[in-house]
Amino acid sequence: MGYTIAEKILKEHIVDGELKKGTEIGIRIDQTLTQDATGTMAYLEFEAMGVDRVKTERSVAYIDHNTLQSGFENADDHRFIGSVAKKHGIYFSRPGNGICHQVHLERFGVPGKTLIGSDSHTPTGGGIGMFACGAGGLDVAVAMGGGAYYITCPQTVRVNLTGKLAPWVSAKDVILEVLRILTVKGGVGKVIEYGGEGVKSLTVPERATITNMGAELGATTSIFPSDEITLEFLKAQGRADAWKELKADDDAEYDKIVNIDLSALKPAAACPHSPDNIKPISELAGKKIDQVCIGSCTNSSYLDMMKVASILKGKTCHPDVSLSIAPGSKQVFNMLAENGALADLIAAGARILECACGPCIGMGQSPNSGGISLRTFNRNFEGRSGTADGQVYLVSPETAAVSALTGVFTDPTEYLGDMPEFKLPEKFLINDNMIVAPASPEEADSVEILRGPNIKPFPVTTPLEESIQAAAVLKVGDNITTDHIMPAGAKILPYRSNIPYLSQFCFGVCDSTFPQRALEAGKSIVVGGSNYGQGSSREHAALVPLYLGVKAVIVKSFARIHRSNLINAGILPLTFVHESDYDLIDQNDELELADIRACIENDKPVTVKNLTKNIMIPVNADLSGRSKDILLAGGLLNYTKQQAE
Ligand code: F3S
Repeated sequence: MGYTIAEKILKEHIVDGELKKGTEIGIRIDQTLTQDATGTMAYLEFEAMGVDRVKTERSVAYIDHNTLQSGFENADDHRFIGSVAKKHGIYFSRPGNGICHQVHLERFGVPGKTLIGSDSHTPTGGGIGMFACGAGGLDVAVAMGGGAYYITCPQTVRVNLTGKLAPWVSAKDVILEVLRILTVKGGVGKVIEYGGEGVKSLTVPERATITNMGAELGATTSIFPSDEITLEFLKAQGRADAWKELKADDDAEYDKIVNIDLSALKPAAACPHSPDNIKPISELAGKKIDQVCIGSCTNSSYLDMMKVASILKGKTCHPDVSLSIAPGSKQVFNMLAENGALADLIAAGARILECACGPCIGMGQSPNSGGISLRTFNRNFEGRSGTADGQVYLVSPETAAVSALTGVFTDPTEYLGDMPEFKLPEKFLINDNMIVAPASPEEADSVEILRGPNIKPFPVTTPLEESIQAAAVLKVGDNITTDHIMPAGAKILPYRSNIPYLSQFCFGVCDSTFPQRALEAGKSIVVGGSNYGQGSSREHAALVPLYLGVKAVIVKSFARIHRSNLINAGILPLTFVHESDYDLIDQNDELELADIRACIENDKPVTVKNLTKNIMIPVNADLSGRSKDILLAGGLLNYTKQQAE
């Protein structure tokens, strides 16, 4: 039996487990990327591992998310990341150089390599034939330290493309069609692999638009073959030597096949508030709009911008529409400036933004209340634009540009005449002066890490103790979310690298005295009900309790991701054997987990002794294999350090 593209890459990179769908496998990671919003924590974690220099082939730290500097915090984070990068062998893409995925595709992506990034749209790299996944900051730190990345060996969906896109229909309309067919849940546990004759008609940046928004399918990743089109792109980027051919075997087996005839596609929109709520533009035509935002890691390539400039050239955006445009990278921006397209955008009334995530991450350009905003981005969740009742529609750059002129939803295939030929340049403008290379190993010692007051060290973790004795400093009920444990929100977002500051808010909505009481106790245990830790995957919901001295969490049941975050932080997750035993512990009871290390090590039953009430309570640890070793080591960082030794 032959192999799919994804299987070929995985086969070359597997270091733990076997290529068997649905089982856990560990893969070697060639490249990593971080953005600043998640990067500060990832680098604090990397520092805590005590590894001098990254062990990956290429690691790059980008600044693109929190580029607004209305206080010192974001600027401090940028300086911290820049100095860590310099010291530890990481390339640093300065603020102003562009959005991580766009720049990575242009300057670093290599077909056939593995990439993980602390950003969910890292699968953009699949456009150039990488196996590229979004991951947690800790996963990225571990990969930089030489550790494997663990995933469930995925199924593969083949999307067979035939035909050729009609004029003014674009790659965005392709991924919107895939989302319409598969929905936002359709990609879970799967790789979406593109093939068929139609692939040849798509440039690398167009392919990257499709793999980028594959994240909205919930897919592990999406991938295109690496062919002569990929080679052309790499040549134009001055990186032809990075190319290698990559295609699926003719007899590769897929778990599902989806057929899409490119020539039959029409411009579409993802309507509020979900990327799979797809309607053809023709159904929305004539509806009034208030705002158009063009850019983001989905649609900000050179060709995207050139098409927009050609549509806007010599015209003025509608008086009722605010039009903003953010080119995806300095390379794109600079080329538009040199070839005059930027002048066309400015003359048409576009508000030109710096090349960064900007409105996509809510950094400015929130629409008016109840406003209808057409965006070329990848997500339209309620409130993400910064306006609670904003109505965000996700569309192609072509649809966005024509609608900005007319002030209403407009189908570009109806409004525009013949399409001029848009071609990638034979040579992109290459100037990497905003990418700072790391110091040499010899110079690295003298590089000082710039820690502003907002940068605090990662909490120290220690191997699991022989026995634990601590009070149940907090007892909570059912359905505690990660928001209860560690709230998010604009007020505390700039403090993501400051665990001591964040700790003041831990469990604040349940019991505002908890942080203080936990710190005074030194060691503590949290007791909870069912579905503890549901909600987002945020790792701070484990790291902050770790900082406050929480040693174990005993509950009726855990949400899956939070449980693994606790293990990664070295906090013992236990469940009551009998749920009703929850009633046998009151807040502040003194608890003992005698010989807990030996019990875990030898898979023996674990019992909690309630010293206050003199009762024995059986609990489950349910730890096996790798998660047991991680916990015994005192968390994933310590475990990775041990593995490296
Ligand atoms: Fe940035 Fe939005 Fe992409 S936040 S990385 S442009 S999804």
